[in-house]
Amino acid sequence: MSSTLPERARALEAPGSQRPQTRRPMQFLREFLRRPREIGSVVPSSRFLEERLVDVSGAARARLVVEFGPGTGGTTRALLRALPFDARLLAIELNPSFAADLEAFADPRLAVHRGSALDLQDALAQRKLSAPDVVISGIPFSTMPEDIGRAILRAVWAALPPGGRFVAYQFRDAVGVLGRDILGQPDVSLALLNVPPMRVYCWRKPAPRA
Ligand SMILES: C[S@@+](CC[C@H](N)C(=O)[O-])C[C@H]1O[C@@H](n2cnc3c(N)ncnc32)[C@H](O)[C@@H]1O
Repeated sequence: MSSTLPERARALEAPGSQRPQTRRPMQFLREFLRRPREIGSVVPSSRFLEERLVDVSGAARARLVVEFGPGTGGTTRALLRALPFDARLLAIELNPSFAADLEAFADPRLAVHRGSALDLQDALAQRKLSAPDVVISGIPFSTMPEDIGRAILRAVWAALPPGGRFVAYQFRDAVGVLGRDILGQPDVSLALLNVPPMRVYCWRKPAPRA
């Protein structure tokens, strides 16, 4: 029997569901219906994708992580679980409803910036944060204007130190295409246990040539 998207999202929030309440699929779906191009996905990332992101990003050894597009915060919580106790996580979220909920997370390591990934440099400077070890991005590059996508990638590359990583998870290859021009060749893996299956890209910034 087929079911509508809201019915499926409610089922995911039901007691006993595989997904904990923290991913808030109903709120996610509501915001998707309001701003589909900005949210870019109908349901939040799965536990399996969250685990992959934690692994690929090296979050367990990071001092400072930046997350673009935390949404309802499933990925954010997974990162916070993995991060060292004295690390920092700067979450940059465009959607005011998501940002307000993230600000209520009771974790002193988390700072929330309400605004665009384009603000990366200012968001770090305002909080006197140095270069991040890793930037993790779930924002939909395939639905944003190409010049904005390029500007975001240039801002990431400028902010990362040598050895720093940029990890992006996407259904479509737009970030891969833009990224190859600006960041070079990524490592790419597939996260199949997610709806939809995601490509996970990881770029590492090389050390400058002597
Ligand atoms: C596909 S959702 C990912 C949510 C969550 N990280 C997850 O994996 O379940 C994309 C998120 O990026 C946010 N977003 C879109 N464009 C953005 C931008 N330019 N800067 C910051 N956040 C943005 C959306 O509001 C949304 O929360």
